Amino acid sequence: MEKILIVGPASQILGVKIAKELGIEAINTEVKKFPDGENYLRINIEDETIIAGKEVIIIQSTGPSSNNNQNARLMELFMMINSVKRMGASKIIVVVPYLAYARQDKIFRPGETQFGHVIIHIINSLGIDEFYTVDVHAPVILEKCSCKAINIDSMKLLADNIKTLGAEDIVVVSPDKGGIERSKAFAKYFGESVPVDVFEKSRDVKTGEIKMSGKLSLKGKDVVIADDIIATGGTMATAIKLARESGAKRIYAVATHALLLDQAKYRILKAGADKIIGTDSIDNEVSTVSLAKIIVDYLK
Ligand code: R5P
Repeated sequence: MEKILIVGPASQILGVKIAKELGIEAINTEVKKFPDGENYLRINIEDETIIAGKEVIIIQSTGPSSNNNQNARLMELFMMINSVKRMGASKIIVVVPYLAYARQDKIFRPGETQFGHVIIHIINSLGIDEFYTVDVHAPVILEKCSCKAINIDSMKLLADNIKTLGAEDIVVVSPDKGGIERSKAFAKYFGESVPVDVFEKSRDVKTGEIKMSGKLSLKGKDVVIADDIIATGGTMATAIKLARESGAKRIYAVATHALLLDQAKYRILKAGADKIIGTDSIDNEVSTVSLAKIIVDYLK
């Protein structure tokens, strides 16, 4: 079946790279906001029949960016799916490299919602056939999908990138217990005997304030602090400070999704990171690791 790729407004660079890897044309969208704030989106085509009967791949990340927030990005995603469905696509494959709301998978305070589950439920209910995301914060939410749903692992790509930077005598550090299994798997890409350590982190569920503690033996080591998301940079900066106090030589701040909100870059570099490394699930200046090839491997 002929494939068509629609590149969403939040995944322009990654989308075009994926189209090139697949050897197919990338179709863009036209987006704007109505005066009342509602989103508008159309697939940028003049002839709707080119969609009918085709396998349509939609790529759209849903992170916040300078010109739109994650709610608008989700709306654009829903609109793209709805549009190609209406035009008669035979198969709809949705790729959302960074999935917004995935951190809202659990209830911490009475009256909250598990909105990560709801987002997946909505995407699934629009009538898609396959769903792909990358290093989603809570893989459990994918269970809400009745269609095929895959969580792609970017760890090998990130590790390969760090190796090219000349890191040696590596220790992988997880900033909290929740990330320990992921950090263990990550460490394996640097070698079977690369140690993994963890700090103790707690977050005040009302204020969001982070507390972290731990003294590790990192003297003279190159430390890779790995997390799935860097948002405000609070978690990463606190872990970096502790790693410095524990004697780390070089520190690499690594995250699949480096949202880098507000002063995050400043906080992380000021805390003592030598480099911030992220993937192009989010388009920004630290997106040095491209997900294009690994996503294409799944789409082929
Ligand atoms: C939380 O469990 C996540 O894995 C990240 O550690 C967190 O989202 C990072 O947020 P921030 O950069 O705002 O501390």
